[in-house]
Amino acid sequence: MSVLIKGGRIITASDDYVGDIYIEDERISLIGQSLDMPADTVIDASGKYVLPGCIDPHTHIEFPFGGTTTCDTWTSATVAAAFGGTTTLVDFCCQVPGHSLFSALEDWHRKMSERKPVIDVGFHMAITDLSDPARMEELKRVVQDEGVTSYKLFMAYKGSVMVDDTTLFKVMQQAHETGALVMVHAENGDVIDVLVRQALAAGHTSTIWHARTRPPITEGEATNRAIQLAHLADAPLYVVHVSCKEAIDPVAEARAKGWKVWAETCPQYLFFDESVLDQPNFEGGKWIYTPPPRPKEHQEHLWQALSTGILSVVSTDHCPFNFNGQKTLGRDDFSKIPNGGPGIENRLHLMHEFGVRQGRFSMNRLVELLATNPAKLFGLYPKKGTIAVGSDADLVVFDPNKQLTISAATHHSLIDYNLYEGYQVTGAPEIVMVRGRTIVQGDELVAGPGAGTFIKRARFGEELTGATGGVAV
Ligand code: URP
Ligand code: ZN
Ligand code: ZN
Ligand code: ZN
Repeated sequence: MSVLIKGGRIITASDDYVGDIYIEDERISLIGQSLDMPADTVIDASGKYVLPGCIDPHTHIEFPFGGTTTCDTWTSATVAAAFGGTTTLVDFCCQVPGHSLFSALEDWHRKMSERKPVIDVGFHMAITDLSDPARMEELKRVVQDEGVTSYKLFMAYKGSVMVDDTTLFKVMQQAHETGALVMVHAENGDVIDVLVRQALAAGHTSTIWHARTRPPITEGEATNRAIQLAHLADAPLYVVHVSCKEAIDPVAEARAKGWKVWAETCPQYLFFDESVLDQPNFEGGKWIYTPPPRPKEHQEHLWQALSTGILSVVSTDHCPFNFNGQKTLGRDDFSKIPNGGPGIENRLHLMHEFGVRQGRFSMNRLVELLATNPAKLFGLYPKKGTIAVGSDADLVVFDPNKQLTISAATHHSLIDYNLYEGYQVTGAPEIVMVRGRTIVQGDELVAGPGAGTFIKRARFGEELTGATGGVAV
């Protein structure tokens, strides 16, 4: 199968030029000017951008959490992702406390393959319990044998998935040995637990108390603690969903010293302040995600950190719970509302509109934040995350003039609301391709389930070559 994409404006993290792309057998085989070789399919991309497929390194699909399970399946989530220009996602496979890492991996592989994703998929390993010494050996094997090359730890959600510093530090030491990247959800779960209990005891049960019991300092303290401990263990660290200045500052300080620290934020922190929690009719339940929406002044710090390089990635933390029947589990007690918000489909729309079109950063930086940096950090580069000869033909033909009104009525996730309801953006994917196969064309899903496949990722700092799918330093 061959595809020729002609005349598009090809934009990578470092380049921006008009050219043609020739695709054979799932990969880019040639890039040039006025290519005229025969092709099974010819796409006229004039007037359009051609971008590397975006990579979302933070999703929770069919995730049992907060007494329920996220409402997107591996089919619906990956279809929604594809419509938003995402061609690879890396989901959190979560150890059940007391059980092996491998039983979680089997579970994730089973669910994922039954539902036949339409885009490519990798897993992180979320570790919740190291009390059995067998787990240390499993930490090695998931990296060496399974291509699961990042460990995730929750420093919050006490009584559920939270780990203590003993577990956190031991995993960091193991990451130093195995070459995995350590990811942390950085909030002080012990302190938050005290604040939540005190709030409930005082009769504070409404949604705004989600933010009031998780103040920015609890995120800043945990972020700094994780950074210091990772440095002590000499392990690379990635801080997920940074939401506030208190967490940006220690990341900035560590990066200025050349420490191996990276961090992401998510659109929900750039657009919503804590007032969204304080709405009548339990409407605020839709915005119960963690960390919570912050006071408005944090948003400008986050945008700044994205443009100056303190933050390296925008992920979605797509963790969808329906408003009706799931969020409402906590109608009378904010602490019982399942934590998580949707967003898998709208990341590129939002970052193009409010990042690039509003002059906050360039198209190159957009590609870096949504594709190239996630690929490099998570062992997918240069197979994914760029447009180069030998790379997978994961491509987005992006129409910079297409108008879109974001709405739950038209989005592809199964969730019954959209945080960005009514937002108007200019610029949207027109064709989305995974390894040379068109998945989305205009408003149509043109590939059936199963177009996506599981990707074994390279270790941190190593390359995943297009040629072998293996690790090459
Ligand atoms: O509220 C959130 N973010 N839920 C998903 C789990 C997590 O903390 O990332
Ligand atoms: Zn060593
Ligand atoms: Zn988290
Ligand atoms: Zn998350």
